[in-house]
Amino acid sequence: MKGVILAGGSGTRMKPLTSITNKHLLPIYDRPMVTYAIEAMVNSGISEIMVVTGGTHAGEFLRLLGNGEPWGIGRLTYAYQEKPGGIAEALGLAERFVDREKVAVMLADNIFERSIAGIVSNFEAQSAGARIVLSKVDDASHLKSLGVAVFDGEKVTGIIEKPEEPPSPFAVTGVYFYDSSVFEVISHLVPSGRGELEITDVNNHYIRQGSMGYDILDGYWGDAGESIDAYYQVNDFVRTHGANKG
Ligand code: DAU
Repeated sequence: MKGVILAGGSGTRMKPLTSITNKHLLPIYDRPMVTYAIEAMVNSGISEIMVVTGGTHAGEFLRLLGNGEPWGIGRLTYAYQEKPGGIAEALGLAERFVDREKVAVMLADNIFERSIAGIVSNFEAQSAGARIVLSKVDDASHLKSLGVAVFDGEKVTGIIEKPEEPPSPFAVTGVYFYDSSVFEVISHLVPSGRGELEITDVNNHYIRQGSMGYDILDGYWGDAGESIDAYYQVNDFVRTHGANKG
């Protein structure tokens, strides 16, 4: 399985910090944010990784990650997203790199307490389609800034992006798994109201098709790019408890 880490976007919610660097290079405890997504993938046995980034600080990723070897990556490649056109657009840039294999995708601002290795195995065992990872979030106002799953019994019947009225307490985290049909799905997307190709539209396609699996996460999950407060919350958590633990 190939790995794609998405580290583009504009980082507007983190200004002025993101005027001087890319959000995913800001520190989480003792190292840059993006290295946690790398560690999560490498520890799950994914050794071929593409980092997609953009903006004026993209060169700093090369300075940090180089050819990937010091970070345990077997083969590291990069793609440059010209404009922040959405998560799905960023993933679309990885089509040739993924080359008809399965792919694990991580948003570089997501931090997980526990290893995702078991979830990677679950998708390896899944014959086709896609897989999302849900996390229970008790604060309803927080859910309004995330993608939230709609359930019918145990079945996920849809995802609503940034819902006014959260349909369940289960947020969709920023780790996604797809078979190679995802690039065909992306090629048919139309930009949302905010002008982006939305990953939630991709996921709803697989849900409608009946080929979406899901896992419910154990342990803490944080989106460090959500706001300055969320950034410090994630920092505090990682400093005290660590991340990507086996
Ligand atoms: O963190 C989980 C949430 O991430 C999910 O619950 C939502 O369903 C999903 O849409 C996403 O929401 P965000 O509002 O947090 O997405 P954001 O625009 O902040 O983008 C998240 C990351 O994706 C960002 O850190 C870098 C990458 N990205 C984003 C955009 C818009 C790119 O690489 N390129 C882009 O153009």
